[in-house]
Amino acid sequence: MICSIAPAKVLLFGEHFVVRGKPALGLAVAVYAKACVHSGSGKIFSRQLGIVEKDSKKHALFSALINAVYERYGPLPSFDIYIDSDIPMASGMGSSASISVALTQALLTALGADFNREDIRIIAHEAEKSVHYKPSGVDTSLATYGGLLYYKQGLFRRLNLKLPENIALIIVNTGIERSTGEVVRDVLNRSERLGIIAEHIYSAGENIVEKAVKSIESEDIVLLGELMTVNHGLLWSLGASNKSCDEIVYALINLGAYGSKLSGAGRGGIVIGLISMESAKVAQRTLNEMGYKSIIATPDYIGVRNVQSEE
Ligand code: MEV
Repeated sequence: MICSIAPAKVLLFGEHFVVRGKPALGLAVAVYAKACVHSGSGKIFSRQLGIVEKDSKKHALFSALINAVYERYGPLPSFDIYIDSDIPMASGMGSSASISVALTQALLTALGADFNREDIRIIAHEAEKSVHYKPSGVDTSLATYGGLLYYKQGLFRRLNLKLPENIALIIVNTGIERSTGEVVRDVLNRSERLGIIAEHIYSAGENIVEKAVKSIESEDIVLLGELMTVNHGLLWSLGASNKSCDEIVYALINLGAYGSKLSGAGRGGIVIGLISMESAKVAQRTLNEMGYKSIIATPDYIGVRNVQSEE
């Protein structure tokens, strides 16, 4: 059995602003999707979903991926596929991209193919494109390469930077599912109505990303956290937040986070906080009492890789 894992991601800055050509900053986090392949009769089994039926929506992603591998590397022997993911689905953490990337690496390894990381990213992105509406590619890039990714207008730059060791992200799930497309449309409509006011908000969003990169370079975590909270304020002003997101942002700051913001489309999904490891554990207990599930995650700077199978 050949197994590979790929990390999830969070957007540290810039969601919604990217839609209008501004930059964003994403970070891969140590929460993983694992994919294993083993010779078999073509069954796909997910620990979370059970057997993935041939005509299901989920199966479409796997078929697209197997097709993309076939086009580049020729016919595949018959495999069974096992997926086991700790990444919450439909929360903005890129669970689908992480599964695609991990599975691509496992398949190419099992085939004995000659490949590099860029081959994995391209194949996984192709599969994602066929099942998701216009994916930006940030999720597959982060799942493949790990680390910090700056992106603007379709161009990606992996930053050779790290957060200090004792700093974690607490990722809180609001438990509210929302349609990304709907929030994006509403934000764009509001920004159109606001005119010049929106221009200022969007330029501030851009300045925040540039300053955030500098604050990571200089290990100024207090400033980095403050920039996250300001970014949340800007997203709030554009209508991307809701009561749960705001409640969690306030709670995290009261619980010692350096800063906090919604991450992804907003109006639900996840809220992130930049926090010391010690404060994170206490914060997690309190959030649990408030009814919110959370994950304490450190960055992943490695990206996709093979792991020992448990069998
Ligand atoms: C959603 O994760 C991020 C948004 O900026 C939408 C997008 O970039 O496609 C809200």
